[in-house]
Amino acid sequence: MTETAKLIIDGKTYELPVITGLENEKAIDIRKLRAETGYITYDPGFGNTGSCQSAITFMDGENGILRYRGIPIEQLAEHSTFVETAYLLIHGSLPTREELTNIRVVLNDQSMVHEDMQEFFTNFPSRSHPMNILSAMVNALRSFYPELMTTEELIERTMLRLLSKVRTLAAVSYKISRGHKVVYPRPDYTYCQNFLNMMFDSPVNPYIPDDDLVNALNLFWILHADHEQNCSTAAVRVVGSGRVNIYASVSAGIAALWGPLHGGANQAVIVMLEEIQKNGGDINKAVAKAKDKNDPFRLMGFGHRVYKTYDPRAKIMKETCDKVLAKLKISDPLLDSARKLEEVALKDDYFIDHNLYPNVDFYSGIVLKAMGIPTNMFTVMFAIGRLPGWISQWKESMDDPHWRLSRPRQIYIGKAKGDYLPIDER
Ligand code: CMC
Repeated sequence: MTETAKLIIDGKTYELPVITGLENEKAIDIRKLRAETGYITYDPGFGNTGSCQSAITFMDGENGILRYRGIPIEQLAEHSTFVETAYLLIHGSLPTREELTNIRVVLNDQSMVHEDMQEFFTNFPSRSHPMNILSAMVNALRSFYPELMTTEELIERTMLRLLSKVRTLAAVSYKISRGHKVVYPRPDYTYCQNFLNMMFDSPVNPYIPDDDLVNALNLFWILHADHEQNCSTAAVRVVGSGRVNIYASVSAGIAALWGPLHGGANQAVIVMLEEIQKNGGDINKAVAKAKDKNDPFRLMGFGHRVYKTYDPRAKIMKETCDKVLAKLKISDPLLDSARKLEEVALKDDYFIDHNLYPNVDFYSGIVLKAMGIPTNMFTVMFAIGRLPGWISQWKESMDDPHWRLSRPRQIYIGKAKGDYLPIDER
């Protein structure tokens, strides 16, 4: 028998269908609610709203579970590469050897960006944030590649073009911001090797990609590759629902990711840890400040809308952080502060009662810093990692027969009807 939920309004009972997901998550289907009852639902921040049915990523926030296309994040982190994981997210299953080779060939073919785009970079004010530049440049890609995605082949090419070029655009923006010569991608390098090389190679200091750093970068990007209906992915889907092109949709996702409550948290964590050190390293003071309801300060890298336990990505990131710093023989005082902060917060009643644990951003900035990535590029690193997620979610929404233009309703609380007053009577 199909499960239903009963809703009683003004003594009248309405039966609403219940949708059950693969892992037994339940949703009350309210698609006909307004038409049948005249009521809408109220859910600021959409914490109780399922905006779609998706076959891409499964998260269980109570038990700290994350799977891409059914595969646990821990297994992907141990065995996969970023490109393989991207294929998995976009196509739904792991690639065969041949499919992986094909995708690598296309990523290589698509890795250059139009030379005219370099002009754009140089015209941004020198203090522009790289996320600002990346969002604008991704939107601009549409002007360079205006072809319509009318066949499966064109859709595939466009998705891979984005995946490949965003990495190049990010590295070019860094080189130009430093006033240095742009480094072109190399066909003999993998996706991650190429990124590090485009970032750090210079005529006076040739760069040889280090295997451990390349592995750490693969892992960093795998951990960020998708996270179901988070703020930026929701933005990609909402913008895409107007049937705008994928470049504009992803550009909106990049803008959404920039915020410090979302992807910008990885930069904010480092700023916070540096601030704590500057003020004498008093961890308890920072924790007390985060608990003070009269103070807007929050512990950056702590808490999550869905995870009410340790973020599984943060666990892996913490181990990677230890490995990378040991390998590079770096002793970063920020890591000591982060460890102490975690220890104090996890024993504190406020953090326990509010289920606040470190999230993926808590240790990731320290890993990126050790790799030599400048702080203002941290969120760009997150954006490159999240691309396979945005692309696959965009594609899924385009193929979804139930997908409609995103257009929430509201409860109006403004002024009652009034008359227009001529300017002299106001
Ligand atoms: N420090 C102190 N208090 C916190 C924190 C924090 N980091 N996070 C949540 N709280 C408190 C909050 O003050 C509220 O307390 P109360 O109920 O007593 O008023 C309660 O916990 C619930 O907070 P909320 O804002 O309603 O929770 P949310 O689910 O809307 O917020 C969050 C999730 C990630 C925005 C929030 O935890 C936060 O601001 N964290 C810091 C920023 C951060 O690290 N963001 C990265 C998230 S992971 C990367 C990604 O996927 O984007």
